[in-house]
Amino acid sequence: MMRRLQQVGRMLPMLVMVALLLTGCGDPYLSALQPKGPVAGMQYDLIKLSVIIMLGVFTVVIVIFTYVLIRYRKRKGDNSIPEQIEGNHKLEIIWTVIPFILLIVLAIPMVSTTFTLAKDYSNDKDAVQVKVTGHQFWWEFEYPDLKINTAQELYIPVNKKVYLSLEAADVIHSFWVPALGGKKDTNPGMTNHMWLESTVEGTFQGRCAELCGPSHALMDFKVKVVSQEEFDKWVVKMTKGENAPAENKAVATQGDEIFKQSCVSCHAVDGNGGKIGPDLTNFGNRQTVAGVLPNDKKHVAEWLKDPESVKPGNLMPNLKLQDDQVDALVEYLSSLKRQ
Ligand code: CUA
Repeated sequence: MMRRLQQVGRMLPMLVMVALLLTGCGDPYLSALQPKGPVAGMQYDLIKLSVIIMLGVFTVVIVIFTYVLIRYRKRKGDNSIPEQIEGNHKLEIIWTVIPFILLIVLAIPMVSTTFTLAKDYSNDKDAVQVKVTGHQFWWEFEYPDLKINTAQELYIPVNKKVYLSLEAADVIHSFWVPALGGKKDTNPGMTNHMWLESTVEGTFQGRCAELCGPSHALMDFKVKVVSQEEFDKWVVKMTKGENAPAENKAVATQGDEIFKQSCVSCHAVDGNGGKIGPDLTNFGNRQTVAGVLPNDKKHVAEWLKDPESVKPGNLMPNLKLQDDQVDALVEYLSSLKRQ
């Protein structure tokens, strides 16, 4: 017995360390445990309620179990069998009624939250409508009312409902912004819906939460929550804005030529071009290239030279570009900055 206790005692520091480590699993931009909006808030409340009920049941069962284990253990020299009872009505009623009450306590907020989360805001003039399409391995965001098509960064105004229509272009993906709300699958040939709202401004990390191919883990995106004023400015920039002048205009023009020859069948800029790859109208404003590398000239070049090494299994072909062609394209792409 003493040895057992000593063993448990030795494990205690490790358990404490694991607990401390796990408290670090809550980066505010990527944590369902630090909700930043009503959807994530309601879901977090349900998690808390069910965990509290679970811990309550667990504690009561463990206490009774431990008591019985000690009180009725086999003692040396005592071979008597304790009084056998069964069919105790009072006890049976108690352990039927208690779980029933607990289920009701759990079911009422669960059902009411489910209906609140399933509300349809597709005709709500105040809500921002966004069509989300999951692609291997990037995210497309279309604002049908605002005539904006963009990728990888979802701009939304703070304190406003955003109604998402979710689809997939190829295989099943799952749209997930932990700080703002639970995940929702995007399926080919079928539209799912969800709404989100953020009560704070900031950048929140989004992830694909459905195994969708070799670069599933790299299928990140960002949600940029800005003030209404800033959002309106962004809309104007995206629809009527001009690109910033390129640092090296001659090289950028060269890049533009290459783009028109080799890239435009898949990528659109300002509404001209294919829709197979992400729209690049505001590429220079984005934080990342391919969703995972920092968006600077070095990494854009790295991506153009060998897309497969950055994001295995993606559709972008290796164009086998010469170094000067890469430099020209990099210059052109970096100039696609809306101001
Ligand atoms: Cu898309 Cu995982």
